[in-house]
Amino acid sequence: MAEGKVYIFDTTLRDGEQVPGCKLNAAEKLGLALQLEELGVDIIEAGFPVSSPGDFESVSQIARNIKNTTVCGLSRAVLNDIEVAAQALKYAVRPRIHTGIGTSDLHIKAKFNSTREEILERAIQCVKWARNFTDDVEFYAEDAGRTDNEYLARVIEAVIKAGATTVNIPDTTGYCLPYQYGEKIAYLVNNVPNIDKAIISCHCHNDLGLATANSIAGVIAGARQIECTINGLGERAGNTSLEEVAMIIKQHKDLGLYTTIKSEQLNPLSRVVSDTMRMPVQPNKAIVGSNAFSHSSGIHQDGFLKDAQTYEIITPEEVGAESSKIVLTARSGRSALAYRFQKLGFQFDRNDVDVLYAEFVKVADSKKEVEDADLSAIALQYQEKAAVA
Ligand code: KIV
Ligand code: ZN
Repeated sequence: MAEGKVYIFDTTLRDGEQVPGCKLNAAEKLGLALQLEELGVDIIEAGFPVSSPGDFESVSQIARNIKNTTVCGLSRAVLNDIEVAAQALKYAVRPRIHTGIGTSDLHIKAKFNSTREEILERAIQCVKWARNFTDDVEFYAEDAGRTDNEYLARVIEAVIKAGATTVNIPDTTGYCLPYQYGEKIAYLVNNVPNIDKAIISCHCHNDLGLATANSIAGVIAGARQIECTINGLGERAGNTSLEEVAMIIKQHKDLGLYTTIKSEQLNPLSRVVSDTMRMPVQPNKAIVGSNAFSHSSGIHQDGFLKDAQTYEIITPEEVGAESSKIVLTARSGRSALAYRFQKLGFQFDRNDVDVLYAEFVKVADSKKEVEDADLSAIALQYQEKAAVA
């Protein structure tokens, strides 16, 4: 069984940046790369150098400026792509070339009009070529999620023999169920004789909302690298979100795994990525959504005010979020109302709160959320009436 460290391979600047509207300029990419290094990711996939002169330039700038983290460039299984990636990574302290090809029968036929044997040869050739430029070569078997396991195992054995040090098993279309993806990784662990010479990587897309679950199933089965992005950005429905896998691994000590992510930087960096890429984060997004630490129903608020752990498994401080919020709506109860009045500086006893609650519910029924200004108005009116009586 592999050791417990799970390498975090961030692809926000490559798979994430492919999203329409998320395009970044070189300065923005470099700024984010420096913050990703600070966050503690192990590998930054900086771009796809052959895709455009602008991306080549971005990858070169990142390669020159990042000192402790591995910098990776993507390529197809095309010799020129690999050479261009190597050029862009020339000044990196730790360069990685990520190369590969589609291995499912659908990709082999529809994309390449080829055969399994020809694709196997191309995979070997591209890994060997990449090894001329760096010792750190990652091979991706695109659409591995829908690739026949026996053939996939042959490809993986051959590319490791050719020099691949990481083997990426992408569920490119987000097709697998978690148990299927886990079984695929376990199949490789058990059927590729030289698998101990490489790290298995999970690269899961979110088309069915299973990217995070599949990546976790992958590491439980023996993979030791997760490819992911801040806020889960990526092609179509996105990739595995970095903040989710990092916190699952941190929370579930029972898995015996760890990462080097500094979790208190997750929320600040999520906001920077969202602003820079002009891509809002859904409010109910795990870990970094604006509602991730908001409590609005009476039952939850009452429990939370007695002991926060009744309704929170992570503290906001742990992930750099603002403090937990008690949001007042028509579903809130007396405990939350009393708590909020107290926060605003009003001292009311239980009988006062009973009367005030009736007023509060009237306002709450007419609004989505009752604000401090509404509460102050209710409280002052109540005090005035009490003074006259
Ligand atoms: O989803 C995918 O298969 C990819 C590869 C290029 C790694 O992004
Ligand atoms: Zn992808």
